Amino acid sequence: MKRILVSAAFAAMALCPALAQQTTYVPTPENIASRQDFAERRFGIFLHWGLYSMFAQGEWYMQNAGIPYAEYSKAASAFYPANFNAHDWVAAIKASGAGYITITSRHHEGFSMWDTKCSDYDIIDATPFKRDVLKELAEECQKQDIRLHFYYSHLDWGRDDYPMGRTGTQCKKDPTKADWKHYYKFMNDQLTELLTNYGPIGAIWFDGWWDHDSDATPFDWELPEQYELIHRLQPACLVGNNHHMSPNPGEDIQIFERDLPGENKAGFVDEAAEISRLPLETCETMNGMWGYKIIDQNYKSATQLVHYLVNTAGKGANLLMNIGPQPNGELPATAVQRLKEMGEWMNGCERGTSKVNPSGLAHVETIRGTVAGDVPVQSWGATTRCGNRLFVHILKHDQQELYLPLNCKVVKAFAFDDKAPVKVTKTPSGVVLTLPAVPTGVDYVVELETK
Ligand code: GLC
Repeated sequence: MKRILVSAAFAAMALCPALAQQTTYVPTPENIASRQDFAERRFGIFLHWGLYSMFAQGEWYMQNAGIPYAEYSKAASAFYPANFNAHDWVAAIKASGAGYITITSRHHEGFSMWDTKCSDYDIIDATPFKRDVLKELAEECQKQDIRLHFYYSHLDWGRDDYPMGRTGTQCKKDPTKADWKHYYKFMNDQLTELLTNYGPIGAIWFDGWWDHDSDATPFDWELPEQYELIHRLQPACLVGNNHHMSPNPGEDIQIFERDLPGENKAGFVDEAAEISRLPLETCETMNGMWGYKIIDQNYKSATQLVHYLVNTAGKGANLLMNIGPQPNGELPATAVQRLKEMGEWMNGCERGTSKVNPSGLAHVETIRGTVAGDVPVQSWGATTRCGNRLFVHILKHDQQELYLPLNCKVVKAFAFDDKAPVKVTKTPSGVVLTLPAVPTGVDYVVELETK
């Protein structure tokens, strides 16, 4: 069905050049530079924080438990995240080696985490906390020099004016009051606030498009005008949309949910979706849920997280790793511990300390600022490249020899950690590396200087 719609759109463009004209998007030089900067950072932290955190059941609780909006929204009057400290959040995230933060400004529940003038259902007007947490975070990100992105839900389970899709059906909205024009203006007014009052915003990360993917007649989200508004307000602000399809005109990054580009293990990717030439980003959860879920202690180990990051970088994509902050305003202790452990690997600290490794090794060099390496991701690991340096990340391999289907000339080869020489033998279809020993550790990196 979706494939037919996409082809129909192309056919219409062929017949009507004016339409094609309208949908042509030419990114500004600031936008291109911002894409480059985004891609070079390679690693970001996603934060899902909202009223849903109070119920501690994940961000879909309202829908999953069938709670009417009128009841659910009462939780706002008790939202008081007393221990929220933007400085500590940003410091912990930065120490992990992450280069940006993406936080939910308003999720499907419809609650705004900033001082919006477009509704009273927000952290200033509806809670006793009365602090604009996005403002505090934005200022701290500026101070600590880390990029800030805002997640923004296109769908809303609470507002009557949002025309209901396939979710939110149990929240007891009044469908007769649906008013798309009114809702669209509300969203654009909110986006204008977010892009006017919070300093430079690296990206707007949309979610919820799929709420109308099963409509009998295609739903028009009027995306081009909305994207145009964003780019007009902040030309360097990137637009991403978690719609699981090929990117639409006006989008600057392509998002993959719980899958590396080219994979579809989670089953979200549309069958017609293609990997574009835009910067790519994969989002994943550190435990199993996006929003805080009290029972979910299923955290990935530090080793697994490093492996995710390496494999994502090996695909030439960014990793956006999620944490669900607690209702008291703290990041869960295990998540903070994982951030620290990732930082130790990234920044080359001795394990368990913040002392910089005497060898001065920082694995961040093998991730940040790299592109996908010459050898596609393999069962043993992945490769990344920075200029003439090719990094071979061996994550799991029980032999001393490793074959690489490599066309370029290798001038020098050594272990990244201790500089031990690695023997390179040419074969008709590539090279065989002979390592000093069977590789051990989280990630045994071999650095190849190539020509
Ligand atoms: C899905 C979920 C949503 C979450 C998002 C993050 O769209 O519905 O709750 O915010 O994934 O990728």
